[in-house]
Parts: sequence; structure tokens; C-alpha cells
Amino acid sequence: MPAVLAAAWALLAAAFLAALLVLRRQQAPARRPGGGISGLFQDLLRYGKTKSGRGQRPAWLRRLQVPKRWFTHFYVVSVLWNGFLLIWLFRAEFLGGSLPSWIQHVHHAPGRDSQSEDTGKYSTDSEHFSALLVLLLLWLHSCRRLAECLWTSVFSNGVIHIVQYCFGLGYYIAVGSTVLCQVPTDVRNGKELSVQICWYHIVGVTMYIWASLHQHRCLVILANLRKSKSGKVISLSHSIPFGDWFETVSCPHYFAELLIYVSMAITLGFHSVMWWCVVMCVLFNQALAAVLSHEFYQKNFSSYPKHRKAFIPFVF
Ligand SMILES: NC(=O)c1ccc[n+]([C@@H]2O[C@H](COP(=O)([O-])OP(=O)(O)OC[C@H]3O[C@@H](n4cnc5c(N)ncnc54)[C@H](OP(=O)(O)O)[C@@H]3O)[C@@H](O)[C@H]2O)c1
Repeated sequence: MPAVLAAAWALLAAAFLAALLVLRRQQAPARRPGGGISGLFQDLLRYGKTKSGRGQRPAWLRRLQVPKRWFTHFYVVSVLWNGFLLIWLFRAEFLGGSLPSWIQHVHHAPGRDSQSEDTGKYSTDSEHFSALLVLLLLWLHSCRRLAECLWTSVFSNGVIHIVQYCFGLGYYIAVGSTVLCQVPTDVRNGKELSVQICWYHIVGVTMYIWASLHQHRCLVILANLRKSKSGKVISLSHSIPFGDWFETVSCPHYFAELLIYVSMAITLGFHSVMWWCVVMCVLFNQALAAVLSHEFYQKNFSSYPKHRKAFIPFVF
């Protein structure tokens, strides 16, 4: 089962990479609405400003769109679901409770128990603690993003495709469940977890805080583009952001998102193949969105800073 989950994340990452490559080959003129298969393909990849910049889309595609401000729903689902998993895991690790039955099925899937028996290797308290810590980080990330959607960001009338919306809802359920699969197979039999902090927990959490601070700052910069000095919303248009990591890339908040997921991989001790597959998925998904945003800025603003990359400072 963990292998199936890792394969599913890897497949999703490959799909985003393939979409990125096809998009770069197509180099479709940004203002051509496009119908048919190509129009649908573009419609499934673009959202918000990169979708609205393509002119009038066919009516059948417009029927399948929902407001982009519904991004908020992703984080409501994530706060609830991952908060629920966090409480469950906390009870299992510290209060002798049991994990949900579906996760026990995963733990007793062929390959996992026999593996630890064969090698005679049993999990350490630090491995149990890593999974708990990463689930906590994911939950805190969702809480911050929810607060930003509600009180920081200023949404325009941008839209997303219904498929993107459903994907976003499922994504946060899948990602939390993936963290739960990182809990080692040996059941603690009511024995309390003794907290063992390792160097990679400290590195991971430090990186997480640093990336989260920058992501928040960048989202504040975007929101301020639409506000007066007194904080009143005066515009819903798109303009060129400056400051913080925007000085080097067009989408520093996407880059920060990638760093947040890498910081979780570090907190898990670097060795979770499944989590690295999640990181790959975020890498290609955010790269795709960054390329489209970068193209939007270059097409719409002749004064757009030439030295800015799309996604990764000085690289991409
Ligand atoms: N983990 C994942 O797979 C995943 C997937 C998607 C997003 N995310 C994260 O969610 C966060 C938000 O993503 P997003 O795609 O919604 O970012 P975004 O398109 O840049 O939008 C962020 C906010 O800024 C506004 N905005 C964007 N560009 C602007 C400009 N040039 N001038 C003025 N306002 C502007 C947007 O308004 P509009 O209403 O006009 O768009 C929105 O309110 C990011 O940190 C991203 O990393 C994560």
C-alpha cells in the first residue's frame, strides 16, 4: 500500500511535468481563447490571472468554472481533516489510543511488517515523533493559509476550473493521509512516546519557519498592490509586485511552498521516498503555475524586470 501511494504521487508528478513540457512546446499565444482539446487542456492548467488573460473562452468551458476565491475551501477542508488526523495520532502516540482502522490496514499490508521482522530493525521514538511533527507542520500551514485567504489576500473575480477545484479539495486529504502512512509499522501497545529531538527536526522546522515567513510576506505584498495606504481595497487589477523574494522571481510564494514541502521531507529524516514523491508533485505543479504567471507578467508589462526568473531564483 505505501508503495502504491508513492507510485500515485510519482505518477501525478509525472503528469504535471508532462503538462509543463507540452505547454512549453505549444507556446500558445496568450490572447487566443482556443476551443476543443487544446482549449480544454489550457483551461485545466490555467487559473486566475493566467486564465483571464486569454480572452473570451467558449461558453461550455465557462460553465465549468468556479470563483478562485473558493481556494479558501481547500484550507477549511485541510484544517478540519488534518486537525482530525493530528488529534488521532497524538492520542495513539501519547495516550495509548489506536490509529484509524484504514491506517492499520496500511501498516499490516504485505511487505511492511515482514520487512522490519526480516531486518530485525524496529522504529525509534524519533521516527514516530517525525511523523507527528510533520502532521503538525502541515496543519499549521493550512491554518495560516486559511487565515491569509480570509484576512490578507484580496481576490479579484478570477476563476478556476471545477476539476482544479475538486483536485484541490482531494489534495489536502491525500497529503495528510500520506503523512499518517509515515508512522512506523510497529504498534506502540499503549507505551507512551518519549520525545526524541534530532538534528534533522531542528533543520526542518527552521527551514519551514523561514519559508513560511517569506511566503506570508509575499502574499502581503500581493494584497497591498490592491490597497491604499490606509488598507482600503482600491483596485482588483493585476500589477507588478516588488520587494522581498519578488526581486529575483515572479512567483516567490510558489518557491516558498516548495521549500515548505522540502522542509517536511527533512523533518522526516530525508529517507521517506513517499514524501519525496509529494515534493516532486509540488515542484512540477508550482513550476507550471509559475511559468504561466511569468508569461502573463512579461506579456502584459513592457517594463517587467528582465532579470527575474519564473520560479527558482537564478535558475528557472
Ligand atoms: N501545494 C500546492 O499544490 C499548491 C497549489 C496551488 C497553490 N498553492 C499555494 O497557495 C498560495 C496561493 O496560490 P495562488 O496560485 O492563488 O497565487 P496567486 O495566483 O499569485 O494569487 C495570490 C493572491 O494574490 C492576488 N494576485 C496575484 N497576482 C497579483 C498581481 N499581479 N497583482 C495583484 N494581486 C495579485 C490573487 O488575486 P486573484 O484573485 O486576482 O488571482 C490572490 O488574491 C501560494 O502560496 C501557493 O504556493 C499551493
